[in-house]
Amino acid sequence: MGKKSLCLLIASLLVAYYLYSPIPENIEDPWTLMFLSAVFRTVGHVADIAEKLGLAHHMDVLMVITNVESTAPVSDEKTTVTDTAFNGVSVRLYIPKGRPESLKRAVIFVHGGGWCVGGSAMKSYDNLSRLTSEKLNAVVVSVEYRLAPKYHFPVQFEDVYTATKYFLQSNVLDQYKVDPSRVCIAGDSAGGNLAAAVTQQLLHDPDIDVQLKIQALLYPALQTLDLDLPSYRDNKDMPILPKSLMLRFLSEYFTTDLSLMEAMETNQHIPPEASNLLKFVNWSNWLPERFKKGHIYTIPKHENSKIGQKYPGLLDPRAAPLLVDDVKLHRLPLTYVLTCQYDVLRDDGIMYVSRLREAGVPVIHEHVEDAVHGILLFTTSPFILTAGERVVNNYIEWLNNNL
Ligand SMILES: *[C@@H]1O[C@H](CO)[C@@H](O)[C@H](O)[C@H]1NC(C)=O
Ligand SMILES: *[C@@H]1O[C@H](CO)[C@@H](O)[C@H](O)[C@H]1NC(C)=O
Repeated sequence: MGKKSLCLLIASLLVAYYLYSPIPENIEDPWTLMFLSAVFRTVGHVADIAEKLGLAHHMDVLMVITNVESTAPVSDEKTTVTDTAFNGVSVRLYIPKGRPESLKRAVIFVHGGGWCVGGSAMKSYDNLSRLTSEKLNAVVVSVEYRLAPKYHFPVQFEDVYTATKYFLQSNVLDQYKVDPSRVCIAGDSAGGNLAAAVTQQLLHDPDIDVQLKIQALLYPALQTLDLDLPSYRDNKDMPILPKSLMLRFLSEYFTTDLSLMEAMETNQHIPPEASNLLKFVNWSNWLPERFKKGHIYTIPKHENSKIGQKYPGLLDPRAAPLLVDDVKLHRLPLTYVLTCQYDVLRDDGIMYVSRLREAGVPVIHEHVEDAVHGILLFTTSPFILTAGERVVNNYIEWLNNNL
């Protein structure tokens, strides 16, 4: 074999390795998804190598995607867009230009990115917020909370909480001509986690007069205790958010010490005090039959996890909204939960749907059979997934009808 053909062989093996991802059969646009997946995996591998060589933290490399995608706040004929701060927390504001005198609805939006990356200025999030503002003639507040590894739990939560609380003051709502009875919080992925946590905490906050009308949780992460759910098992290597990356994000939310992530890999990270909380995330009880199929429940090991004890945040409902009892769920507002079949976080969302229903909270559950994690983001060029547009339209229509 000549040198040239050897090079060609190696090059094609590399391309094949990168492009090949297990794409489920019912996914539309499989090539776009494969390409997307290859981009994400390449960046992930570069991050691994850079970290091993001591050149950069893993998340600093992943942050490159966020930075490349970042846009300036650009107003257009329908919306005024500005970057500002609410009580010290950065936010991007979208204010509709139409019908300036009438009272408007408002959406507080919390972006995803595993508490470590992402930003409201990203092209995809900017587009989603703009679209929401336009279609609903609503004020959108997209929160730019601080990220790990520089900041850990509870900073991310507190930033979103602070910005939300600031916005919900009567004089501030007045200033933006927002109807206090028509405010929503929404978030995707880690943003769904923060949105769910904020909604729960607001209910019991004595300083709050104005409560949220609805919440929309888009493929949210909702618990820290059981990282061996059927959805984690089935979607371990799915594009966009493989289990390994999810565990890195989740552990990084609490600490940069990698031993927490290593314990999470074998589901042995939770401290003994967690045993009375396991019932809240017992998928054997909370998942409908079809999602349990072929899986046998095993109890997460919690006898001697020293590492888990170091991070009490793991058991804090502000990090894991599923870990509260029914009494804390009762008065939650109408909730929209979006879950995707090929997503490690699928069962977090489904368990919350079951728990909320049991507690008497009205819930709309939209389960997408043909989508991977992050689907809402892939509606801007060059990565357009047909399913993404469909899901965005359904979500915005739901907001429009219920807010
Ligand atoms: C989980 O639920 C199953 C089925 O109801 C039950 O057998 C098991 O003991 C429960 N485990 C825990 C830790 O709650
Ligand atoms: C924004 O998203 C919508 C659908 O979600 C899409 O139709 C539109 O093309 C996107 N706009 C831009 C500028 O990418």
